[in-house]
Amino acid sequence: MDKIIIFDTTLRDGEQAPGASLTQREKLEIAEALTYLGVDVIEAGFPVSSKGDFQAVRTVAKSIKGPIVCSLARAIKKDIDIAYQAVRYSKRPRIHVFLATSKIHMRYKLKKAEEEILRLAVQAVKYARKYCPDIQFSPEDASRSERQFLFRVIEAVIEAGATTVNIPDTVGYADPAEFGNLIKAIKENVSNINRTVIAIHCHNDLGLAVANSLEAIKNGARQVECTINGIGERAGNASLEEIVMALDTRRDIFTDLKTDIKKGQIYKTSRLVSKLTGFVIAPNKAIVGSNAFRHESGIHQDGILKKRTTYEIIRPSDVGFTQPSLVLGKHSGRHAFVTRLTQLGFHLKPKELEKAFVAFKELADKKKEIFEDDLVAIAEDQMHKQTRPLWQLVGFEVHSGTEVNPRAEVVLKHRGKKIKSVSSGDGPVDACFKAVDKITGISVRLVDYRLEAIGRGKDAQGAVSLNLVHRGLSFSGRSSSTDIIEASILAYINALNKIE
Ligand code: KIV
Ligand code: ZN
Repeated sequence: MDKIIIFDTTLRDGEQAPGASLTQREKLEIAEALTYLGVDVIEAGFPVSSKGDFQAVRTVAKSIKGPIVCSLARAIKKDIDIAYQAVRYSKRPRIHVFLATSKIHMRYKLKKAEEEILRLAVQAVKYARKYCPDIQFSPEDASRSERQFLFRVIEAVIEAGATTVNIPDTVGYADPAEFGNLIKAIKENVSNINRTVIAIHCHNDLGLAVANSLEAIKNGARQVECTINGIGERAGNASLEEIVMALDTRRDIFTDLKTDIKKGQIYKTSRLVSKLTGFVIAPNKAIVGSNAFRHESGIHQDGILKKRTTYEIIRPSDVGFTQPSLVLGKHSGRHAFVTRLTQLGFHLKPKELEKAFVAFKELADKKKEIFEDDLVAIAEDQMHKQTRPLWQLVGFEVHSGTEVNPRAEVVLKHRGKKIKSVSSGDGPVDACFKAVDKITGISVRLVDYRLEAIGRGKDAQGAVSLNLVHRGLSFSGRSSSTDIIEASILAYINALNKIE
């Protein structure tokens, strides 16, 4: 069996998705979930890009045991120094150096000729090798690079000490047959290629990232770079869950290949990333979308009942997907609550459990039926509660209707002091946000606001995820409640507390 190395770049390329900024604590939480999922390499960030990114990579490198922790750098000494400083405390550090090799990038972006690029690539890999033995090199925009030059660069960086060579389809331009052929050509034309692992990194601009990755694997790539839910720069990266499940489901094609991913953790990890980045998953998203395993048409339902595999190629429970079932009610006790949470894969600390149980009872008073999704939302809310939030919601009141100008009164608590403000707005939510702005005095722009129902029924909870921009930086916030105005204010405050 050949192993396919799963290189997860959710925390680096994934976080480059506009609006997906994560705090250090959130990054660590995702890194822990990725470790539990069984990924082999975690690309934790691009440390030279900001102090926050440096700290996040350092925190992940220090805390995560198991996977290789990788740190990205341009082919510049300063970048490599900083990348190594960030990752040096990992038990298994990797430095990932990249430099563009396509004519368009060399001419217009780097303004350098081929020979200079070749020299810089070799120099950077040799320099990085002084720090650590695990070095990955990426010829950026490889799929649009002139082939003979690409082969020369790859050969030279392997000679200089690169242990993994990653072939990026940086702008998602490749077609599957063409990309597979490129990997084959690299294997046939680079004399020392057997001394390194061939990796691939595909973007999804034409919706082909997963197809291109799979074709590359068929042609000899043994490391695949991907992100949870396919998030990433522009249209995103190849999605981890789709690649892993394609390899698993089509074992007849991908014979003798395996990954170490624990499939049963996929759904939970996907939800965590969606929650922390504020990127809602489309219902029809393969593997992790809420409709991915729902059968609506009568013919399909009939077929499923007669033989599941007539219309189902993956068992939902294989990826940790559970149907929304009625689980607990108002009269359920602590023991049943804890047992159900444990079955759902949550291991809360005693204090979090206590608060989660109180939240469950409060919800059970408002809502007739409590579904698994509600329990997941409660558990996640407790796990992600800011420990000492600067701003807290005390209460609010809104006036809104067809004939009235929406108006809101909001009371917040700040360092033990209650502050009240009143504002009008375009709607009740807008009025609340304006009242909060008056209290905090923090200047923010709301760039994204989404509301989705958790579970079913008229009394379903509303989950709000939003993004605020403050001084050019993006902050996400999320919360849920049976009252969508309350969920909105709480999500807004959640984001504001991250700014603070
Ligand atoms: O898309 C790309 O080319 C990258 C490189 C840094 C690998 O993200
Ligand atoms: Zn990329």
